[in-house]
Amino acid sequence: MHARPRPRLAGVSAPLRITVIGTGYLGATHAAAMAESGYDVLGVDVDADKIAALARGEVPFYEPGLSELLESNVTAGRLRFTTDFAEAADFGDLHFIGVGTPQHPRTNAADLSQVEAAIGSLAPLLTRPCTVIGKSTVPVGTAENVRTRLQALAPAGADVDLVWNPEFLREGFAVADTLTPDRIVIGVATPSGPGEPRGRDEEVMRRVYAPMIEWGSPFLVMDYATSELVKVAANSFLATKISFINAMAEVCEATGADVTRLAEAIGYDERIGSKFLRAGIGFGGGCLPKDIRAFMARAGELGVSDALSFLRDVDGINTRRRTSTVALARELVGGRFVGKRIAVLGAAFKPDSDDVRDSPALDIAAAIYTAGGDVIVHDPQAMANARAAYPKMTYAADIREALTGADLVLVLTEWPEYTGLDPATVAALPTTPSILDGRNCLDIARWRAAGWTYRGLGRPNA
Ligand code: UGA
Repeated sequence: MHARPRPRLAGVSAPLRITVIGTGYLGATHAAAMAESGYDVLGVDVDADKIAALARGEVPFYEPGLSELLESNVTAGRLRFTTDFAEAADFGDLHFIGVGTPQHPRTNAADLSQVEAAIGSLAPLLTRPCTVIGKSTVPVGTAENVRTRLQALAPAGADVDLVWNPEFLREGFAVADTLTPDRIVIGVATPSGPGEPRGRDEEVMRRVYAPMIEWGSPFLVMDYATSELVKVAANSFLATKISFINAMAEVCEATGADVTRLAEAIGYDERIGSKFLRAGIGFGGGCLPKDIRAFMARAGELGVSDALSFLRDVDGINTRRRTSTVALARELVGGRFVGKRIAVLGAAFKPDSDDVRDSPALDIAAAIYTAGGDVIVHDPQAMANARAAYPKMTYAADIREALTGADLVLVLTEWPEYTGLDPATVAALPTTPSILDGRNCLDIARWRAAGWTYRGLGRPNA
């Protein structure tokens, strides 16, 4: 996973002191990565329990490699945590804002209350020149407003710069994506033109990201609006790519074609590329679904709804993956879930994560449970979060327990624990050895040879 070399702050003295406000997936990873790069870092959050855990070197969620990074930097004294904004204001030359922007339950727009609260707490305490750097995913136009409010509230006024610096890390790869990013995007109030001297804000960002730039990450400076759009445009493109292949899966279902072979064949075209063409139960998580909805909501406010109307279809195709998988499962157990035991392998929205936010796997499990199925769920990491979301469903201590007595097994998250399962050794556990592969991730020939009835998605005859 960490194939790319790590940047170091080779020979650069690091007088810059950094705070990271908001210590969720994004903030905790960013804080640890900045400390790993050699800076003195203070993580800030309003959640005292979370801060106490992080201060002990414990990561309150599952992210491969992050515990080690956090622990070593806490131990080395480069990384500390606090709930005190006055301490943060006093400490930091740079303040990264990495708080959440969840989906508003009524409007689908991004809920900016955490960004507003962070600025409201920090700004009145900023008495000396510093740079505030927004990393949260926000609707286009937010940075401009934040800058106005920040400079109005801060005693240091115009000596407080605002930079927007969207984050592209993937859960499961957060450490590598932060230490060696694909690109660094910087939105500034007034980008310098060709030949003009760089602004103070750009200079400071080049300095803070020096290890990453030295490693080879492209560094792109642009205006606020473009930088805000880069983030949502990237996630919209990824969501569109997934929904495109899932739309093809629907056509394959109707024609007897095989979507995995189709994806393989079109993926060889370099203009298309093979990544993000894995058809299955669709995308979920805390980012793609809410980002495309927030983008549509913002486009409506801007009067350009039509430009993004395709995202409604992207979302619709994605939602349909869940309902059609439930329908297929029902068909495979003879038309009714009542009295049937359904083993669900996977609750996290993707492997290497314990995140169940908008998880297609957990959504499908819950729908089958609601329809009367006797559902038993297993996940290598997401059990606690799944149980908290759906306390009434049954959770298995291990894979064997989940499979025992099942009338149908659903693989809904492609954890290596499931893709590497030996179908022969578990074939005798279920009542009926029938498997629905929601991620098209299993070796069909092996499962069939071991006596299982196999069904994938978008490959009815495979
Ligand atoms: C996504 C983006 O990939 C990151 O670049 C971005 O920074 C992040 O959102 C964010 O906005 O913070 P992430 O949510 O961690 O990252 O997950 P992805 O790897 O993008 O996967 C999203 C979903 O798509 C998962 O449910 C995954 O199973 C699904 N997926 C992915 C498919 O169904 N098929 C594919 O081919 C690829």
